[in-house]
Amino acid sequence: MRDKIKKKLNELKEQNLFRTMPDISEGAGKFVNVDGIKYLNLASNNYLGLSEVEAIREASAEAVMKLGTTSGASRIVTGNYSIYDELEHRIALFKQTENALVFNSGYAANLAIFSALADRNTIVFSDKLNHASIIDGIQLSGAKHIRYKHNDMADLESLLEKHKDIKDKIIATDTVFSMDGDVCRLRDIVELAKQYGALTVIDEAHASGIFGRGSGYAHEAGLEASVDVHMGTFSKAFGSFGAYVAADADIIDYLRNKGRSFIYSTSLPPAVVAANLASVNYVRDNHDIGYRLLDFSDSIRSSLRSMGFDTGLSVTQIIPIILGENERVLLAKDFLMEKGIYVGAIRPPTVPVNTARLRLTMRLDVMDEQERILDAFRALRASGI
Ligand SMILES: Cc1ncc(COP(=O)(O)O)c(C=O)c1O
Repeated sequence: MRDKIKKKLNELKEQNLFRTMPDISEGAGKFVNVDGIKYLNLASNNYLGLSEVEAIREASAEAVMKLGTTSGASRIVTGNYSIYDELEHRIALFKQTENALVFNSGYAANLAIFSALADRNTIVFSDKLNHASIIDGIQLSGAKHIRYKHNDMADLESLLEKHKDIKDKIIATDTVFSMDGDVCRLRDIVELAKQYGALTVIDEAHASGIFGRGSGYAHEAGLEASVDVHMGTFSKAFGSFGAYVAADADIIDYLRNKGRSFIYSTSLPPAVVAANLASVNYVRDNHDIGYRLLDFSDSIRSSLRSMGFDTGLSVTQIIPIILGENERVLLAKDFLMEKGIYVGAIRPPTVPVNTARLRLTMRLDVMDEQERILDAFRALRASGI
């Protein structure tokens, strides 16, 4: 067994796929501090910088002083506090659904959604680029997992047609794809779901707080009422931690009863729930901030394109720069660090082989650094990497 582990680790190293964790002392703010050096942070998902907002921090600090550092148990034992109910009520209003349920993370929410709603008689049609947590949730459910080509509606339709006699069908998609920054074809998906009698599950992890005045991409597209299950996270634009599922009362009751990652896990600490609530309220009251970030991202993306970078199909605050080989991406990342910019270096298996990329995440608080960012990329271009 140990020999096998050693061999696999050596293989990862040979393929430039061995993961290490950077020595970061601060990583969510405008600047990331790595090994004592400050870099402009274009790698975090704290898109709106909400973790720095005084009112949100104060709400979290007040909750920790009043209620302590832990919730002490699962929600269904003693770990349910009135602020959890308040947060769920607020989310249901924000998403215009009958009810909502808070989960400990986006990963835990997706495990619960698929393992509870699907079983071995279900087929889940899932976009090829959906997040790993969706894939893991489907695997855990024992359902038949059919991956359709990314955003390819003809492929999805032909697969639905092929399996039209199966009664229990789910179509699952991210709304904003996390490594490509493009968006799903939600109108076509809900129409196909209606036609073939499938349940729709969307993952709004990277759209919540940004699109649809903060409510998400389904709202942006005017399709919120046509989607059955809306999942989103507090860990990205909301600058906090945890996740939610918003849906009709039956689906929420079902997840509360059957979602094992919900039932068998201690609930979020009160300080986190208070931050989530304050953050959702902040976005409700400042709903233009997502659009300001999208405009800024458009401007950066078009400059990068005009320099000759391949930014794929990105139309959001997530901008990939697709370079191909793993080694090239690592060199490009080091080059940008020398210019004071920190970006993600994303390699397989997170993205398909030969599409390794830099992943830039734009954030509201770097808008005054546009020239510095573009100068660094111009230099990268000129470097021949
Ligand atoms: C699309 C998507 N879904 C789910 C998750 C998981 O969310 P969390 O980090 O809150 O576990 C992520 C983030 O990593 C994501 O990008």
